[in-house]
Amino acid sequence: MSTNAVLQIQDLTKRYPAGSSGEGKLALDRLNLTVYRGEIFGYLGPNGAGKTTTIRLLLDLIRPTSGSANILGLDAQKQSVNVKRFLGNLPSELTLWEHMTGTQIIHYLAGLRPGCDTRYAMQLAERLDLHLNQRVGSYSTGNRRKLGIVQALMHKPPFLILDEPTNGLDPLVRQTFNQMLEEVRDEGRTVFLSSHVLSEVEQICDRVGVLRDGVLQAVEGVHDLKQAYYRWVTIRTTETSVFNQAEWSALDGVEDVRITPGQVRLRVCGRMDAVVKLAARYPVDDLKVEEPSLEHFFMTFYDGSGSEGVKDGARRHD
Ligand SMILES: Nc1ncnc2c1ncn2[C@@H]1O[C@H](COP(=O)(O)OP(=O)(O)OP(=O)(O)O)[C@@H](O)[C@H]1O
Ligand SMILES: [Mg+2]
Repeated sequence: MSTNAVLQIQDLTKRYPAGSSGEGKLALDRLNLTVYRGEIFGYLGPNGAGKTTTIRLLLDLIRPTSGSANILGLDAQKQSVNVKRFLGNLPSELTLWEHMTGTQIIHYLAGLRPGCDTRYAMQLAERLDLHLNQRVGSYSTGNRRKLGIVQALMHKPPFLILDEPTNGLDPLVRQTFNQMLEEVRDEGRTVFLSSHVLSEVEQICDRVGVLRDGVLQAVEGVHDLKQAYYRWVTIRTTETSVFNQAEWSALDGVEDVRITPGQVRLRVCGRMDAVVKLAARYPVDDLKVEEPSLEHFFMTFYDGSGSEGVKDGARRHD
């Protein structure tokens, strides 16, 4: 295991046993993945892709059909009791003690986790605007999630495994949560989080892996992906019909030129220099640059029409 690897997954496979009908479900098919110290790794995939299955395997809640996972040098299955000492975990569906208040739960959990500072837990709750003196049974979905986040972070674990942590949280709380994860990363700790919303994790993750039908499709650095991005540029001028189709189409990296009266809209890949210089010859009223979301970008992967370069690059890491 590489010294910098916090999580190393080898050929991890899970086939759920057959029910009365059918031959069982292959939920995870020979997953190979390494997550390094100090990174935030986004584990993405549509519903039913196998994200929760992977996480439950890592936590030894279910047993693999074959393959193994190693967390901080320990076997996730054989040494699971030891592994749990180093983990913060937010399950997709959190079971809480309904009759207890948030404060009681935090104190109870702090008692089980040596060295845990309840003041830090209280600070986290306050930042998330979570009121702790209410019985958990009366919490809203979002508040349950917030308490889930607090209990996952409160003992400052070196490795966090979070299953769709931002599900049900409003945008402002998501921002606060992202800041908390950045602080975790700044302290050299590591985060593995699942999501099916790519646009959300692109803001916070260093790398993303995309899972579909139990198969890892791609792993790539968010920064590198953004380099391969195209952008939509819209330029508007007060004068009508002055733009010339051929002129714009001839520019390097420019595709899909759409001219309407007073406006040109182009897809630009790479440098903007030529576009800006041509635009400068016109009386520009407005200029807008729009980036596609990673979600949109990956959709092309799912369709099988994505850039081969990115797909090849994806395998480099593993
Ligand atoms: N206990 C189980 N028995 C049989 N099949 C299961 C079981 N749990 C999950 N599956 C199946 O395994 C596949 C992967 O499910 P999983 O819950 O891991 O997906 P997911 O990526 O977490 O999806 P979501 O985004 O909806 O949470 C699905 O087809 C699901 O129906
Ligand atoms: Mg899930």
